[in-house]
Formats: sequence, C-alpha cells, structure tokens
Amino acid sequence: MAVTRSGSDEHWSGRAAFVLAAIGSAVGIGNLVRFPYQAGENGGGAFVIVYILAVFAIGLPVLMAELFIGRRGGGTPVAAIRRLAKAEGASTAWALMGWIGIFASFLIVTFYSVISGWLLYYAWSLLGDIAGNIAEMGLAGIAQPAFAGDSEDSITSRFPELLANPGRQVLFHGLFIGLATFIVSRGVKGGIEKAATWLMPVFFFLLVALSVTSLIIGDAASALDFLFRPKFDALASQFMNGEILVNAVGQAFFSLSLGSALMITYGIYLERDQNIPAAATTVASADTAVALISGLAIFPIVFAFNLEPAGGLGLIFGPLLLAFNQMPFGALFGLAFFIMAVFAALTSAISLFEVPAAWAKGDIDLDAATHARRRTIGSVIIGLLIFVIGVFHALSQVPDGGSLSTWQPFGQMPVLGNKTLLDAADALTGSIMLPLGGFLAAVFAGYAVSESSSREELGFKHEKSYRRWRFLIRYVCPFFVGLILVWGVIIAPLLAAANGN
Ligand code: PFF
Repeated sequence: MAVTRSGSDEHWSGRAAFVLAAIGSAVGIGNLVRFPYQAGENGGGAFVIVYILAVFAIGLPVLMAELFIGRRGGGTPVAAIRRLAKAEGASTAWALMGWIGIFASFLIVTFYSVISGWLLYYAWSLLGDIAGNIAEMGLAGIAQPAFAGDSEDSITSRFPELLANPGRQVLFHGLFIGLATFIVSRGVKGGIEKAATWLMPVFFFLLVALSVTSLIIGDAASALDFLFRPKFDALASQFMNGEILVNAVGQAFFSLSLGSALMITYGIYLERDQNIPAAATTVASADTAVALISGLAIFPIVFAFNLEPAGGLGLIFGPLLLAFNQMPFGALFGLAFFIMAVFAALTSAISLFEVPAAWAKGDIDLDAATHARRRTIGSVIIGLLIFVIGVFHALSQVPDGGSLSTWQPFGQMPVLGNKTLLDAADALTGSIMLPLGGFLAAVFAGYAVSESSSREELGFKHEKSYRRWRFLIRYVCPFFVGLILVWGVIIAPLLAAANGN
C-alpha cells in the first residue's frame, strides 16, 4: 500500500522535533509539582513502583493509540476520529471523544495558566531579589540566600499574599497566556516546535544542575530512601484500599498528557515514516525520568530542612522557598528552579492550547491560507477566553475574596463538590474527563479499529510486540482506567460518606 502523507498541511520537521514537542507537553507542572506531591502523599517508594508500572502498562499503549488515531485520521482532533471511524465502519459518534478532549484541554489550560502565573511571579521576584543584591554588593550578591534577612514569617506568607492579590495573579496569568497565544498562533513548526527546541534543552540542563546540587547540599540519603526504597508493608496496606492504584493511573494520564486529545492532535502532524512505538516509548521514558529526577531535586532539600514531603502545591510555593532562604546561593538556586518550572509549564500549556486551536483551524477540506488565517484568529479568540476564565480561577483563590472564593460550582456533589472553581476544574478534568477520554481511546483503538489497520499504522518491528500492545489496549487499559473512573466517581465518594466526611 502506498504511503501517503497524513491529512494536514502542517507537519513536524522531523522525529527529533516531534519527540521534543511531545516531551515538552508531557513534562510540566504534573512532573515538577504533582508527582512529588503524589509520591509524598502515597508513601514514596511504594507509589513510585506502581506509578512506573502504570506508565508502561497502561499509559504507553494509550499514548501509541492516540498518536496513531490522529495520524491515520488527519485534519482536526474531531474530524480525525470521525474519518477513521467511518473508514473502519464504526459509528461516527466516536467523534464525541474528540469533543471531550477539546473541552478538557481548554478547561485544563484555564487553570494551568493561573498556576503557571504564580510560578512566573516567583521567578520574577527572585530575579528582582538577585538584581537588588548585585546592585548592593556587586557580584558577591549572587551568593546570597533568597530574600536574605527576611523573617521566616514573611517568607511563608508570600504565597498567601500572592493569592490575596488578585491584580498580581491576573497580571502574571495574563503575561503567561499572552505568550502562549503568540506561540500557538505561529503554528506547528514556527511556534510550538520552535518553543520546544529552545526551552526543553534549557529545562533539561537546569533540571540536572539543580538535582545534582540538591543531592550534594541536601539530605540525599533520606531522599533516595524515600523515593526508591519500597516499603512493602505500606504498599500492601495501601493496595488494600485501592487508592494508590487510582492515584498512580491518574497521575500517569495527567503526566503523559493522555485523554485530552492532545496526543491525537500531535499525531495529526506526524509524518507516515515516523515509527510511533519508538517515539512513544522515548516520550514515556523521558517523562518518567523527569518526574524522578525532579523528585531528586526537591526531596533532598525537603528532608534537609525537615519539611513535610506531603506538602502539595504549597510545598513549592511555601516551604521550598524557606529552604532557598536558608542556603547560600539560595536566590540563584530558587531562580533557576522557577525558570525551569515556567519553561516546563509553557511547553505544556501551548500543547493544551493547541487542541482547541487545531479544531478552530478547520478540517482538510480548507486550503493552507484559510487554515493559517483561521489559526491566527482562532488562537486570539481562544487565548482571550482562556484569559477571562482564568481570571475567575484566580479570583476563586483570593481568601475572603467575596462570593467567588466561597463559590463551589458543584455544591456538595461527590468528587467535584466542596471545591473552589479552580479545584473543581482540576478534579473534573483529572479525575473524570482525562480517564474517560483515555478509556474511550483505548476501546476505540482496540475494538472499533480493525486489527490490520492498527498493525499497519503502528508498524511494530515484531509481531510479538504488536500482540502485546493489542492485549494491553483491549484488556488491561480499559479495565484499569474503567476502574479508576468507577473508583473516583462512585466508590470513593460512598466510602467518604460512610466515614462521615
Ligand atoms: N502533562 C502535563 C503535565 O504533566 O504538567 C499536563 C497536561 C498537558 C495534561 C497536556 C494534559 C494535556 F493534554
């Protein structure tokens, strides 16, 4: 059969560009903040083992499935699924999966941008701090701790103060999403790919430099023990309540950018001569390595300063800053950390943004000039919408910020209830929409698409590997992803109700 170009007028310039952009999407706040937090909450080493299993047995097959669905279908995330379904004689209602993905990506980026704005503000403050030190004491100022001379109280109150300042939150969210809009409006090669090829190498350099420094100056032994020594008694008891499995699979989906139609969209731009299994394995391995290495950057400091490993988002914005305040070169170290986080967040945010932008750009029946015009206009409109909804997320974080900070959009509902707007959007996407999108992708690729089509599109070198993929996508993925949906939406709320909270 003749090898045709995939159905899009935009393509990655090659394998390296695609792999970097996909890693850029996968590596983000999920690796730097959510993974250490999940590991901290779920008992360290035990969670890490289950997580790695979840990535390779469940996430990776779904990643391959999403990429081949996009490439084989072409056009927009919705049109690609519809076209492929038609070609396979399946119902075009599968296109709903594309809509869920577009909506999920859009919703995630509305709050992702607000959190990225906080990271940007921290980077900005530390830059100001270093500039001030250098102005005062010359180059020796570089060796200063972060916010030298400030009391512990004033350091830890920086985060609540930022949240209490809606203007500042909105300003940095606006700057961040403005930058993302500019990049996405420039298209796949000129925007997304260029951003990834500039930002990701700097990111990797900073990550390695920070983790090596952190292992040297921090409590390396405790960190390694925490991350890599599985405590099997803890594993057994946590397995019994199932939560560790649910959290590990959920984290794998979020971290690999699955279930949001993002990898379907990136697959649309993939040329036919690229081998999907090889590229997907590189992406999943790099994403997991980054999660573990960022654990090595954060936990030695956490333990050296006796901080709580299960500190959540607050860990990065509060206690970690306190550590930077107590160490030599702390301002520089902190600045490097937050620049690294902003870079990672930016390449993920543009990928999320690209999903609705790719839809706005239109299907393959349009000519290249119309696509380009629709991409520019679409990006600006989507960027503005993200900005406006993000403002509401930001306001929902302002303590005593009036009705928005007390507004719980889902009331007392299970899973989604008792949460501010930002946290509710996080739960709706992370616990429901991404697992649902991933579940549908697995069932579509494993059952609706014929065996011969998936075999041809994936192009595994060995039939045995293809058979393994097919087994995982048909049985293992739907079972475990279905399990997390049922767990998250039905069982956990019932248990919580039975426990009276
Ligand atoms: N994978 C990103 C992270 O780990 O921060 C978040 C993300 C990006 C989720 C893109 C979903 C997505 F489609």
